[in-house]
Amino acid sequence: MAPSSNHHQLFFLLLALLLPIAINGDDFITLKCGENFTGNAILQGNINSVLLNLVANTSAYGFANSSYGTGADTVYGLSECREGANAQACSACVSEAALNAHTSCPNSADLSVWHHSCYLRYSNKSFIGQPDSAYVGVWRSVDKPADQQAYTRAVDELLGMVGSAASWGENRKFGWGVMDSPNFKGSVGKLYAMAQCTWDLEQATCIKCLADAMQIRRESCGDRGGCYVITASCSLRHEAYAFLFLNAPLDPTTPARSIAVGSL
Ligand SMILES: *[C@@H]1O[C@H](CO)[C@@H](O)[C@H](O)[C@H]1NC(C)=O
Ligand SMILES: *[C@@H]1O[C@H](CO)[C@@H](O)[C@H](O)[C@H]1NC(C)=O
Ligand SMILES: *[C@@H]1O[C@H](CO)[C@@H](O)[C@H](O)[C@H]1NC(C)=O
Ligand SMILES: *[C@@H]1O[C@H](CO)[C@@H](O)[C@H](O)[C@H]1NC(C)=O
Repeated sequence: MAPSSNHHQLFFLLLALLLPIAINGDDFITLKCGENFTGNAILQGNINSVLLNLVANTSAYGFANSSYGTGADTVYGLSECREGANAQACSACVSEAALNAHTSCPNSADLSVWHHSCYLRYSNKSFIGQPDSAYVGVWRSVDKPADQQAYTRAVDELLGMVGSAASWGENRKFGWGVMDSPNFKGSVGKLYAMAQCTWDLEQATCIKCLADAMQIRRESCGDRGGCYVITASCSLRHEAYAFLFLNAPLDPTTPARSIAVGSL
């Protein structure tokens, strides 16, 4: 099959999968692509096969890995949905991520797409199980807490705990938590945090990736109330408001100094 018709076939298949549900445009975070290639129909075909397999399997299981092809044209893929994205939202998100990949970087042999509800990567490099803490992006809030030292202590404490919780995860490497902390006016408020590694990482490599992300947080968001750091294999976020999109039971009446941490 010619590459262009391969392209079109993938596009329409993905569109058909996507049609039943419209996904919130705010769900997209960022996209990174590289290793552009030209005139390799076999590589293109393997990419398309990986994308379709990831979309189908992630919709069914919430996460997937896939590989197609032989030798230099082998393509590897990995995808997952965030906890809290139900089956329908998960399916819509990975379809949209694959479509995004296909339309934004049609000739890329190495591509990652981050959404709030899902993550998808394919590459002609064998990356599954390999931690990669290459910096991707950081978003910081404008607000600054009143008691900087106390706030930073609380952030470090909670991130340390949600990071361990993430590394214990079975199918998902996702940890979340909430604790009381000094807020912007100096009284007690809530601090929310999450940490996540891609599901293919081992516990030790997940912890290492999150330690690198925490270092990025210290350097880039030191005095801010909220921060979101994404690296290639893990991410972490903390805010003074309940940003978590989880179905997980976070108790809003948690008493002072208590901490609730969960792992999925
Ligand atoms: C991946 O594809 C790019 C573009 O064709 C090529 O330059 C690179 O060597 C390939 N990498 C591997 C590991 O095959
Ligand atoms: C994904 O799909 C392939 C075949 O399409 C299948 O062999 C595999 O078991 C599926 N499951 C997961 C979790 O990737
Ligand atoms: C998925 O990943 C596992 C563990 O890394 C590996 O053993 C398996 O072969 C992979 N499956 C595919 C289809 O690449
Ligand atoms: C690869 O292709 C993308 C999209 O087509 C383009 O934005 C990017 O600049 C290209 N990268 C290189 C290194 O040529």
